[in-house]
Parts: sequence; structure tokens; C-alpha cells
Amino acid sequence: MRTKIVVGNWKMNNTIAESEILAQELIAALGENFSGCEVGIAPTFLALDAAGKAIEGSGIQLVAQNCHYENDGAYTGEVSARMLTAAGCSSVIIGHSERRQYFGETNVTVNLRIKKALSEGLNVILCVGETLAQRESGVTEAIIASQVREGLMDISDISSLVIAYEPVWAIGTGKTASSAQAEEVHLHIRTLVAELYGKEAAAALRIQYGGSVKPSNAAELFAMPNIDGGLIGGASLNAADFVAIVKAASH
Ligand code: PGA
Repeated sequence: MRTKIVVGNWKMNNTIAESEILAQELIAALGENFSGCEVGIAPTFLALDAAGKAIEGSGIQLVAQNCHYENDGAYTGEVSARMLTAAGCSSVIIGHSERRQYFGETNVTVNLRIKKALSEGLNVILCVGETLAQRESGVTEAIIASQVREGLMDISDISSLVIAYEPVWAIGTGKTASSAQAEEVHLHIRTLVAELYGKEAAAALRIQYGGSVKPSNAAELFAMPNIDGGLIGGASLNAADFVAIVKAASH
């Protein structure tokens, strides 16, 4: 039985003060309501410290939205995995489609970042997903396969990895993949991981769904056999909505 995992990706939202308030609201609303489910929040780098202090002792995990593949040096605007560990993060999101689309991330740089993050002891959420054009031209499975294969190249241990399937056409658009559409891709990912890492590792891997998850559709998505929680964007910025989604994943 895989433990479900729900992570709020706050993206480029909230000042330090606003992040602190949202984290406090979450704790107040969540209480003990997330038994049987792992919960994380991913504020901006700037707000990691304040949000991290606000969630201290609550069991909520502190997650970063990205990390660089070098420890330090002349990489203006970047933050390293080592710095994230020191800042109290337990996990990092890597290869989000917005990073791929707007900041030139490729499967090669995603792979480098994952390796570095794992070597620094961080858990990794690897994001994969096809665009609408790719889905319509029938290459969804091929795109996902190359993102998984190349993203995980030369990585032998995936016990600290979560994969998030996020169809690009469903992110922030209000269009959710149907639970059947999502399940189909999740099963494809698990089958592929079984080929690469064996059945046991594939059975243990958590695969989150992301893309317009809301309180109204979370339970149906999370009920699918290969959907192990969610990576939540827009709805994670509202404490009540995020808590409702966490409850849908809890038992
Ligand atoms: P969304 O974003 O829930 O706003 O669609 C999901 C994500 O990008 O992780």
C-alpha cells in the first residue's frame, strides 16, 4: 500500500509575510486531519525560511520548487540543493513544465538536477507531462517515456523519488484530465518504471497527478489505482481548498 502524497506548489505567489500566514492557516485547518497522507508545501525560495518555521513540528514537509545541479559558483539567480537541505527542505520539485517551457529546462538538465538533489539527501518530485499538441498528435506515451528515461538516466536508486504526471494542457487551465485519462498515463509510467527498475521499485513508486486538481475532483482522481496523490497549484493557495484536497487523499 502506497502512502498518498499531496504537495502544494505555490509557484511565484505570496510574499514572505503572506506565505507565513498561509502556512499558519493550513496548520490550523489541517489539524490531525491528514493521517495516512503525506503533505508538503513548496513556497518560493525567499519564503522557505518563514514558512518552514511556521510548519515546524506539524509533520508538513518543506519542499522547494527547483534546484541547481552545482553546489555553488557563478550561476546568478540559482539556488543549490545543498542550500535547500541547509534551509530545512526535505524535497524538491524538478522539471516542472513551467521550468521546461519558460526557463529552458531539458531532460538533460533535469537529470543533472535530480542527481545532485538526491546526492544531497533531498527527496525529488520529477514532473513529466505532454502538451496539448503532443496529446492530439498521439505521442503522449512517447513523450512521457523519454522524460522518465532521460530524466532518470544513470540513477540507480529511486526510493526517494516521486513522479508527478502533469499534462501541460491541464495546468492552471481549469481543464482536468479525466480520472480515466490520468490513470492511463499513470499506469504507463508505472509499467515503464518496472522495465527500468523492476516490479518492486515500480510498485513502491508514488505517482502524483497535477493539473487543475480541486476539492470537487480530487476524490475521484485519488481513487484511481495508480494515482497516489496530487501536486496542487492554484488550489493550494487557498487553505480551505488545499485542506479539502488533503482530506480527499487521507483515510
Ligand atoms: P494547477 O497547477 O493545480 O494550478 O493546475 C498544478 C502544477 O503546476 O503543479
